[in-house]
Amino acid sequence: MVVPDQPLLPGEEAPGAEFERKADEIVGQYPASRRSAALPLLHLWQKEFGFLSQRAVEWISERLGLQPIHILELITFYPMLRIRPGGRINFKVCRTLSCALAGSHELFAQIRDRCGATASAGHGIYLSPDGTYSVEFVECLALCGSAPAMMVDEEEFERATIGTVDRILAESLGSGASHGEGKG
Ligand code: FES
Repeated sequence: MVVPDQPLLPGEEAPGAEFERKADEIVGQYPASRRSAALPLLHLWQKEFGFLSQRAVEWISERLGLQPIHILELITFYPMLRIRPGGRINFKVCRTLSCALAGSHELFAQIRDRCGATASAGHGIYLSPDGTYSVEFVECLALCGSAPAMMVDEEEFERATIGTVDRILAESLGSGASHGEGKG
């Protein structure tokens, strides 16, 4: 049996009508195998609620007629799926070959230092003590020609350096959440 390295949080999320509509749309795209809809549904849930709770596992498994363990297996396998809330500002650093060779692991360590993201939130996510920042590795972001690549929330940054990070942090402190133009 595959289980996460930390227990899932209970979660009090209540999917609304729009969420249900999107979920139905996704499930409808896989008429031959509802199981194939599991990963897209997990992404949908995480995008909506920020992380995957116990309730997410129950809701998705019921929706697809699967055992909860089948959903847990996916959560355990894919590093981009999180079982704890991320920070208000979330750094995702690519750790795949091109980016690793271009220094993404060093950049990851520098970001953690800058943000004070020392507390493990499980599943490879590090959080700052006040929960403002989270830092995690992800697999290839399809920006290999401009390594090292990272994302900050939904925004992509190519040829990222600690200078890029400092600018993002300075802007986030000044504006509350915005972090600039991206792609640079
Ligand atoms: S290897 Fe990092 S974006 Fe592809």
